Amino acid sequence: MPSSIDYLSLLPETARRQEILSLHQERQQWINQQKKGFLRYRTPCESLAPFAARTVDCTGDTVIIGGPDELNSDEQAQVREAMRAFMPWRKGPFSVFGIDIDAEWRSERKWQRLLPMLPDLKDKIIADIGCNNGYYMFRMAPYRPKLVLGLEPSMQHYYCFKALNSMARQDALHIDLLGVEHLSLFPDCFDVLFLMGIIYHRASPIDVLRDIYQALRPGGTLLLESQAIPGEAPIALFPDKTYAKVPGTYFIPTGHCLHLWMEKAGFDEVELFCQHPMSSEEQRSTEWMAFESYSDFIDPRNPALTVEGYPAPHRVFLRGRKKAISC
Ligand SMILES: C[S@@+](CC[C@H](N)C(=O)[O-])C[C@H]1O[C@@H](n2cnc3c(N)ncnc32)[C@H](O)[C@@H]1O
Repeated sequence: MPSSIDYLSLLPETARRQEILSLHQERQQWINQQKKGFLRYRTPCESLAPFAARTVDCTGDTVIIGGPDELNSDEQAQVREAMRAFMPWRKGPFSVFGIDIDAEWRSERKWQRLLPMLPDLKDKIIADIGCNNGYYMFRMAPYRPKLVLGLEPSMQHYYCFKALNSMARQDALHIDLLGVEHLSLFPDCFDVLFLMGIIYHRASPIDVLRDIYQALRPGGTLLLESQAIPGEAPIALFPDKTYAKVPGTYFIPTGHCLHLWMEKAGFDEVELFCQHPMSSEEQRSTEWMAFESYSDFIDPRNPALTVEGYPAPHRVFLRGRKKAISC
């Protein structure tokens, strides 16, 4: 498995290497503690490293890492137990040596909606901010990017991705325990940046978009996906304690409002290319995510409302570009 800081050499000269390195080292020191909370993910992650998959296929809806015939039944049981340590699985589907992992979200649907607007990823430097277990990073791998860097501050998701990639061995994919708040360390670095399922969790969404703008190379592309409220008005909902039972939710814009935010942050050629209502077919409890899910977040008498009485969520997809340098 490549060391997670190997990605530094793949970044352009503009990256603030020393600061990234010292933050990386600080975070590694933190997760390397011999405490239960860290070992519960680190131990299963390390136990999976010897299982290198012979077949890896990231081109279909299910990310396939290893076939069922590559392990004996004892090894398969060992892998299954280790994979269950990363529960609840939010993003998927994956199939690992024949073990089907049906995650809470049907993430392949989001990827299918992005596909028509995907820029060329070949040899590109890409960031996936809030990458979770890396489902979308694996889907990017077949396009032969130079680097996909996932920023993910959650230790659980970090180790889950590390475990998956220790078996899949996709050399272009890297993760670090960083967050959207660290984008200033990456000026003019990324050709393509994905920000999906994040912006409504930020108190200053336009500042986030400005940070992304400066982290993109001139001519670079942002693909932005977000929860949204329905409607065309240039407004955002500011919920009280929770939105659809989720705390830490700040502004939930309409698609049009998000479009305006992107323009205010400096983006060019902004396009809202997809909008759809959320549904319990796409986000639901499964064997690998046993907690409450979408149907528990929605008013049972009126599916147009959340349990708090707010408009039920839509999802929106936007693309924008950082201006190219004109000669
Ligand atoms: C709603 S999930 C979205 C996951 C994925 N991007 C998607 O669209 O399916 C939000 C993710 O952001 C991560 N996250 C939390 N705080 C973050 C931060 N400060 N910067 C970046 N990601 C963060 C969470 O751990 C989680 O994996």
